[in-house]
Amino acid sequence: MNSMNCDILSVLFDEAQIRERIRILGEQIDRDYADKTPVIIGILKGGFIFMSDLVRAISIHTELDFLAISSYGAGTSSSGVVKIRKDVDIELFERDVIIVEDIVDSGLSLQYIKDYIWKHRPASLRTCVLLDKPAAHKIETQFDYVGFEVGNEFVVGYGLDYNEKYRNLPDVGVLSPRIYTE
Ligand code: PRP
Repeated sequence: MNSMNCDILSVLFDEAQIRERIRILGEQIDRDYADKTPVIIGILKGGFIFMSDLVRAISIHTELDFLAISSYGAGTSSSGVVKIRKDVDIELFERDVIIVEDIVDSGLSLQYIKDYIWKHRPASLRTCVLLDKPAAHKIETQFDYVGFEVGNEFVVGYGLDYNEKYRNLPDVGVLSPRIYTE
């Protein structure tokens, strides 16, 4: 059987843990934006599953949009090269914006995205990141909402890929080095 699970060394966060963490993040966002209608921008592709679960854990009014960037080639480390592949459609001027990312590795992508969004002159800008990999940061980086910290392993699943695969794994797991060294 062509099962993804055979390629996973260990599960770091399973579906129940992710659901519970997102429930808490949703409550925080509900409180922080109680009298606002934030524009929530999911970063494609990796952020699409986190975005879809997070917005359903939020009960205030929101408007949703997506930004597609590319920062990596097919490999496993950051090139730091970022391109906008799909721009936001909603006018962000004087809006409260929340960026939703799956993972912060070097921090270069999120920094680029924040600088890009600030150019639209939003009223406020916050970031919500499912996974933070502090050992991999190449620049000083801060977020407003974080799901979990991970070590310096190669993690896949729940939107995160290796060569476009494993995004549909429902858990976050460590990819076996056998896969990217063979
Ligand atoms: C991943 C992830 C972040 C970025 C983080 O995207 O979704 O956007 O890398 O890395 P950094 O902190 O080192 O910049 P990727 O370029 O792999 O594209 P994808 O979301 O389409 O998988």
